[in-house]
Amino acid sequence: MIPAAGLGTRFLPATKELPKELLPVLDRPVIQWAAEEAVASGADEIVLVLAEGKEALAAHLRPDPALERLLEERGKTAELEAVRRAGNLCRITVARQASPRGLGDAVLCAAGAVGDRTFLCMLPDDLSLAEPPVLRQLWDAHERLGTPILALMRVPSDQISRYGCAEIAESRGKLHRVSGVVEKPPAAEAKSDLAVMGRYVLTPAIFPALRETAPGALGEIQLTDAIGRLLATGEVWGVEFEGELLDVGTPAGWLATNMRLGRGHPEFQSAFASIDAGDA
Ligand code: UTP
Repeated sequence: MIPAAGLGTRFLPATKELPKELLPVLDRPVIQWAAEEAVASGADEIVLVLAEGKEALAAHLRPDPALERLLEERGKTAELEAVRRAGNLCRITVARQASPRGLGDAVLCAAGAVGDRTFLCMLPDDLSLAEPPVLRQLWDAHERLGTPILALMRVPSDQISRYGCAEIAESRGKLHRVSGVVEKPPAAEAKSDLAVMGRYVLTPAIFPALRETAPGALGEIQLTDAIGRLLATGEVWGVEFEGELLDVGTPAGWLATNMRLGRGHPEFQSAFASIDAGDA
């Protein structure tokens, strides 16, 4: 499940008309990076949660026979292959969120499409730079433990107030049993330096938990609150994943990620080399 019905206010004015998930990172939009990670992690279907006006996200991940025909006629083989790849990663299902009532509400909007399945949930604001991908590491942890799994990342203690913070009951190496999650705690009150990142394995029990979760100050339903409710009836574990998540949900993060990936990319590194040499 990819919740992508948010407003993208941190990226205005770029996102006034264009969804942030369609901004390119190198040669492909953010949503394709997310879908490729999901498929590389074993997903065979993606449920996209979309707001009105964001239908192009689903269109990007579905076949485009007219464009394919045109590229074929013109002998643009490499381009045709790239277009076919983007449109045939896996089955795409769309769920709608009527108004931006928060991440928890967005997940709940996909309940019908997900049904009685345990599922991976990912926020496309971060790209996985990891082998195996971060989502796959979470799924592997789920196969060992059988519980919901959170992606955990250690952060400097003065930065924990920007994240959801996990309270830990027990640790087995990089696996941690979570006893609570507090959204953006003041640094002095944080129970750990483990931040909860936007990748999850969730069980269908999350849906009744979300229905019972009252909206917070801005009328938004927090996924974190519903995960807290799951702790009353069963275990939730977190995995301190190997590798990195790269921010593409803010202008500064998006720029830095493009530069970081571009410098190491066979097709684009010469463009960066020319900038570094001062001749651009
Ligand atoms: P964010 O909190 O980053 O919000 O949402 P946003 O709208 O994407 O961006 P900013 O903060 O305004 O710049 C985290 C994830 O939850 C989804 C977003 O699309 C993003 O993937 N989301 C958020 C929804 O699907 N619906 C919502 O009502 C809120």
